[in-house]
Amino acid sequence: MHQNDTPPAPDLFTWEFAADPYPAYAWLREHSPVHRTTLPSGVEAWLVTRYADARQALADQRLSKNPVHHSEQAAHGKGKTGIPGERSANLMTHLLNIDPPDHTRLRRLVSKAFTPGRVAEFAPRVQELTDRLIDGFADKGEADLIHEFAFPLPIYAICDMLGVPPEDQDDFRDWAGMMIRHGGGPRGGVARSVKKMRGYLAELIHRKRNEPGEDLISGLIRASDHGEHLTENEAAAMAFILLFAGFETTVNLIGNGTYALLRNPDQRERLQNALAEGDESLLATGVEELLRYDGPVELATWRFATRALTLGGQRIAEGDPVLVVLAAADRDPERFADPDTLDLARRDNQHLGYGHGIHYCLGAPLARLEGRTALATLLRRLPDLRLAADPEDLRWRGGLIMRGLRTLPVEFTPEASHAA
Ligand code: HEM
Repeated sequence: MHQNDTPPAPDLFTWEFAADPYPAYAWLREHSPVHRTTLPSGVEAWLVTRYADARQALADQRLSKNPVHHSEQAAHGKGKTGIPGERSANLMTHLLNIDPPDHTRLRRLVSKAFTPGRVAEFAPRVQELTDRLIDGFADKGEADLIHEFAFPLPIYAICDMLGVPPEDQDDFRDWAGMMIRHGGGPRGGVARSVKKMRGYLAELIHRKRNEPGEDLISGLIRASDHGEHLTENEAAAMAFILLFAGFETTVNLIGNGTYALLRNPDQRERLQNALAEGDESLLATGVEELLRYDGPVELATWRFATRALTLGGQRIAEGDPVLVVLAAADRDPERFADPDTLDLARRDNQHLGYGHGIHYCLGAPLARLEGRTALATLLRRLPDLRLAADPEDLRWRGGLIMRGLRTLPVEFTPEASHAA
C-alpha cells in the first residue's frame, strides 16, 4: 500500500495506454509533470505534460532538433538510440531535424512556395478527391474508414500538390502504407520504401527542373530568397518531409476526428445541423477542437538539451532527450475549461496540436482544408454514419509520436437508397 493518497505511477506504453493514454497523462501532469522514463526503445527521455511547460519547451532554443546533441549518441556513436533521423542523412536533413540558422533559411524558402494561397486554390481538388473516395464505398452500407478514406486522401492530395503524376501515385500509396504500418525508424521494408521514394523524388525534381510546371516541386525549385535557392538534395528532403509530415498526421486527424464525433452524438448532431443550414463556423472551430481533444500527434518530435537547463522545476542534463506530450498539454485543466469534454464550439482554444514556435506545422492550412472537407463531406453524404464495432475492440497504433486507429469500421444507409 502507498503511504499517502497518491495513486501509483501508471504504466506507460502498454496496449491499454495506447487505447486511452489520457488518465496516465492526467497523473503525470499532476504528480510528475517533467517525468523521466524509459521508452520502449530503451532510450531514457523526459516527458513534458503541462501546457505551460510544453509551450515553453517547444519555443526553447536550448532544446535542439539535431540528434547529434543526444548524449547517448555522443557517447556510443551513431545508430545506437533508434531515434529516427540519425541515420540515412540526405532525406533526413529536413526541417524537423535542424536548428537555426539552417532551419530559418530552409523554412523561408519553402514558405515562398508552399503558401496559404496555393493551399486555398487547391480546395476544389481536395473536394474532388474526397468525393471520389466516398463514391468507392457509399453504396456498400459499410466501410473501414481508415483504409478506404482517411489513408488514401492525404497521400493523393499531397502527391497531386507536389506534381507526382496520377499514374505514379499508387506507388506512393504503397510506400506510405509500408511506413505507416511499420512506423518509426528506417528499417527493413521501411528502409526500402524510403529508398524508392528518394530515388523517385530525385528523378522527379530533375525532370521538373527541365520542364517546370505550376506544381509545388517546381515552386520549390524556383523559390529564391536573396538570391539563394534550394539545392536538389534540399528540395528532395523538403518534398520528403512534406509527404512524411503531412501524411500519417492527416490520416489520424480524419480517423480520430470521425471517431470522436461518432462517440459524441450530441456534438455530431450539432455539427450536422449547422452544416445543413450552410453554417461552416462550427466546422472551423470543430476541427480545431478535434485536434485538441484527440490530436494526431501525441508527442512532438525529438528535442535534445544543448546545455543543462531547468524546465517545470526539473533539472535536465545536457544531451538529454525531451519529448513534449502535446496530447497531455492539450487536456491540461490549468489551460482548458472542462478539458476532457469535446466542445466543437470551444473558442479559447490555443491548442498545441500543430506545435508552437519555429517548428509550428508548415502544413496546417492544408491539414485544416483536408480535415474540414473530409468531415463535412462524410456527414453530408452519409448522414446516419455509425460505428460498426465495440470501441473496446478497436486497436490503436502503438507508435511513439503519432496517435491513430488501425481500423475504423462504420455502417450507414447506402447512399443510393436515400437518394431514391
Ligand atoms: C511540423 C502537426 C499536417 C508539414 C508539425 C509539428 C506538429 C505538426 C505538431 C511540430 C513538430 C515539433 O515541433 O516537433 C501536424 C498535424 C497535422 C499536420 C496535427 C494534421 C492534422 C501537416 C501537413 C503537412 C505538414 C498536411 C504538409 C503537407 C509539416 C512540416 C513540419 C511540421 C514540414 C516541420 C516544420 C518545421 O520544422 O519548421 N506538424 N501536421 N504537416 N508539419 Fe505538420
